[in-house]
Amino acid sequence: MPKENVFRPTVVVGNWKMYKTVEEALHFVETLTPLIQESQVLVYIAVPFTALGPVSKKVQELSAPIKVGAQNMHDASFGAFTGEIAAPMLKELGAQFVILGHSERRRIFGETDAFIQKKVEKAFQEKLQPLVCIGETLEEREQGRTEEVLNQQIEGCLGNFSDKIFDTLILAYEPVWAIGTGKVAKPEEAESAHSFCREIIAKKWGEDKANRISILYGGSVKPDNASLLLEEPDIDGFLVGGASLDVESFNQIVHAKIKV
Ligand code: PGA
Repeated sequence: MPKENVFRPTVVVGNWKMYKTVEEALHFVETLTPLIQESQVLVYIAVPFTALGPVSKKVQELSAPIKVGAQNMHDASFGAFTGEIAAPMLKELGAQFVILGHSERRRIFGETDAFIQKKVEKAFQEKLQPLVCIGETLEEREQGRTEEVLNQQIEGCLGNFSDKIFDTLILAYEPVWAIGTGKVAKPEEAESAHSFCREIIAKKWGEDKANRISILYGGSVKPDNASLLLEEPDIDGFLVGGASLDVESFNQIVHAKIKV
């Protein structure tokens, strides 16, 4: 779907997963900040829970153009959920967004679309920007079921919401077979999935919301493949895992050629 005069900012999100101590996280932010001062790209970093407070504070001190967020949360505000964390706790530490439904949460920790939908609702209520991940496995792709799976996941994670959710929500298409494997999706494969997601959103929630939502690509994004992917009209930025751990490679992705 063409952009039709709608401005969608380019967003680059680092997902640090279970990497970086507080000291390493602070060093990263101090080194990155001067490099991205002039960037027009919106830079987000999803840090481990332990680094949220210190990194948010550092970002404020430096007036760094970085949004700090978490990689997961529970859908309840509090309760007997050993080892879990709630939205108000994340907000207290300065989180501005939260990744929900990452394929590692789905695959390793058994999260379902229904559970993810409840988390999205809580994030929305708490004014934490939800970044919702969807994507097919290799087996599903090989069976020709990519679109069916994307449709199911969008319906399962977002189906109960009114179009208001799209005022804040960011969607990330992350084919599971491309995550951490070095096998990036071909630009045309990613574009076809992104435009399909936009079509589903347009059908259910209207063209305007579909045109405005940022859809990020994730899965083995590196400095040498970012620009080509960004040329696709429906790819609005990236969710970056491995390459976001190193300041230099993350910075190069942030500075990949911006779509005009
Ligand atoms: P990757 O991870 O860039 O290391 O493939 C992406 C992600 O899991 O979000």
